[in-house]
Amino acid sequence: MRALSTYGAATLPSLLVLGFFVWFANWIPQTRWEPPKVRQIDAGASPAELAVLGQAIVRERGCLSCHTIEPGTGIKGQGRGPNLAGLAERRANGVTGGAATLLEYLVQSLYTPGAFLVEGFSNIMPASVKAPAKLNREEVAAVVAYLETLGGTPTVTVATLPAPPDSAPASPSTGGEAVAAPDDPEAMLEAFDCLGCHSLKPGEVLVGPPFEAALLRAAAEAQDVSLAAYVMQSIVDPRAVEAEEFPAETMPDDYGTRLTAAQLFAITEYLSAREGGQ
Ligand code: HEC
Ligand code: HEC
Repeated sequence: MRALSTYGAATLPSLLVLGFFVWFANWIPQTRWEPPKVRQIDAGASPAELAVLGQAIVRERGCLSCHTIEPGTGIKGQGRGPNLAGLAERRANGVTGGAATLLEYLVQSLYTPGAFLVEGFSNIMPASVKAPAKLNREEVAAVVAYLETLGGTPTVTVATLPAPPDSAPASPSTGGEAVAAPDDPEAMLEAFDCLGCHSLKPGEVLVGPPFEAALLRAAAEAQDVSLAAYVMQSIVDPRAVEAEEFPAETMPDDYGTRLTAAQLFAITEYLSAREGGQ
């Protein structure tokens, strides 16, 4: 009798967990996750060769979700970030009180975008070595070479790329998945870079909406799905529902393959319960 009840108590939660994993496992293959195209960039590539690669990288890594390239118009453009057409010309001597050359300015713009804020814009650009772009050093050189062509001639090579500013993040973020324990949701949000785009302060918009359960509930109701399903889908398949008031295709779409099920479950539970002001 006693053995039976112990057995019963132990299986019920594990059945629930099993059910969750089956459902989760069925879901993952449906996400439209495409690994970023890996290009072998030759360390000896010429500036012109780098510029061609850089143009493709700028398109593929989400820069154009904020920036436009509209020749013949002003810096303001139609995007959330500056119009990049004519960039090399207008920044030929860097910026007043900051980087003194075009190359230094471009490197600074990519590694520490907040160090110099273009007038009239807010500090929403993620460092390009972090999610979602995650450029490595060769890719930064390629992007810089391409940006030089916007109003100028490419000159940079991998070897002559200026060093990143001291305060810059050293290398592409690994996501910190190894250190993120599911029992500390805020540390997990930090480790996966969520807090670079989502504020924990009610009403504060960084790149995406702040984490508030009330907002998530309203969005879930509008989609006619449960709160947990909506939150999980937003994380695993962020392109499924895109809110119009935020830049499209900005949230990384590979969390479904980077988070463990336990991490995803813990984040979902935490976000669903976070009332404003907590
Ligand atoms: C979430 C929106 C967003 C994304 C994504 C983004 N940027 Fe930006 N970027 C901005 C904003 C806003 C500014 C202006 C404020 C500032 O200087 O940080 C800016 C500034 C810049 C500047 C300086 C422009 C000038 O006129 O001086 C460069 C260069 C630049 N971004 C390049 C890039 C590249 C390359 C990528 C992709 C790897 C990228 N940005 C991704 C929003 C974004
Ligand atoms: C580079 C920026 C960026 C990062 C990093 C990011 N997000 Fe997002 N996220 C967004 C944007 C922009 C939206 C709104 C547009 C959309 O719906 O895709 C969004 C939407 C969401 C939503 C839906 C919100 C709503 O009110 O409908 C959730 C939930 C969410 N993100 C969770 C996360 C979690 C959890 C992480 C980290 C594991 C994360 N995000 C990382 C930019 C980001």
